[in-house]
Amino acid sequence: MAPATVPTLDDLEVRRKRVLLRVDFNVPLDGESVADDTRIRAALPTIRTLQEREAKLVIATHLGRPKGKVDPSYSVIPAAARLAELLDTEVVFAHSTVGDEVTQLANELPPGGVMVLENLRFDPGETAGDPAFAKALAANGEVFVNDAFGAMHRSHASITGVPEHLPCAAGPLVQRELEALGALLDPQQRLQRAPFAAILGGAKVSDKIGVIEALSRHLDHLFVGGAMAYTFLAAQDEPVGASRVEADKVELAGTLLEKCRARGVHVHLPQDHVVATEFSEHAEPSTVATLADGQMGLDIGPDTLRAWTEVLSSCRTVFWNGPMGVFEWDSFSGGTRGVAESLATASAKTIVGGGDSAAALARFGLSDAMDHVSTGGGASLEYLEQGDLVGLQALRRS
Ligand code: 3PG
Repeated sequence: MAPATVPTLDDLEVRRKRVLLRVDFNVPLDGESVADDTRIRAALPTIRTLQEREAKLVIATHLGRPKGKVDPSYSVIPAAARLAELLDTEVVFAHSTVGDEVTQLANELPPGGVMVLENLRFDPGETAGDPAFAKALAANGEVFVNDAFGAMHRSHASITGVPEHLPCAAGPLVQRELEALGALLDPQQRLQRAPFAAILGGAKVSDKIGVIEALSRHLDHLFVGGAMAYTFLAAQDEPVGASRVEADKVELAGTLLEKCRARGVHVHLPQDHVVATEFSEHAEPSTVATLADGQMGLDIGPDTLRAWTEVLSSCRTVFWNGPMGVFEWDSFSGGTRGVAESLATASAKTIVGGGDSAAALARFGLSDAMDHVSTGGGASLEYLEQGDLVGLQALRRS
């Protein structure tokens, strides 16, 4: 699969025009400040390029899931303030997303000026994909640039509705994402990519079925950690103690294992575990090769990490999505940290699907050591599964 083609910024005349720029500033907040500004920083090159081209920028984003109601704890104000700091420029804030006052503020912007709209999801029309809301939003701009890769899998008004009303393009961040993720499945890059490994973790097998199916056609090695590993171990009749197992997915996990092996993929499951008898940050950790009754696996063990690191050192491409354990708790963070460190020093090309693995990298200070850290969690997995996203289709249709 070649990276899906979409119109880009170079196809759009933006000079002295109001550019409605959809970004994904869905960032974690710590009270009234931004706890992790990775997604804001990721949009800076796009914003600066548009400023240099003398566009008047009307920036729109969602933040959290406020369910169509105005909720000050989900206000975009902290993100707008952080953007102003990073750009070192004045950022106008509109306390709404649509309407005459917003249009007037947009009209008053000078070339290169920047304005941020309040949370799109304060309006129920956003997540409902309401055509009237999309039209009102589109009235804020003369052209539309979608750089919100992390939200491009959502059929929301600002993603799939706005392109019906304005000339539009994908932003440079979206292009970078498509190139990095698309290269993993491109048949023409098969030889340069191999040996190709995927490390998947996280809580639920159900979230990863599609991506395992899609990647298994291309992989040489599949490593499974995190809570989902216990559903796979249960499928092999291995003891899982009190670990979190998705009982209704055990059969499916067995089928996926068979499918991977039939396709020549080496599947690596944890061979030792850091366990505890309660799910608590302060639980006493111990390392075991076989789980006893009452023990729950909360991280991969050191033998597993050593064995995996060795295989990874021979790989040329590694895709990682999902933590190996409860990385937010020090006692159970060793596996996730170890994987992050081995990727940081590996000669392989390293592509990290966003979400928790991106958060883990930020926590360990290793984000810059990867070749690409996706800003999309669900979006990056869906793109790998389907090779396209509704937000990209909308840009192509317009
Ligand atoms: C994300 O954080 O993955 C994106 O911003 C999308 O958010 P959502 O899952 O609430 O739609």
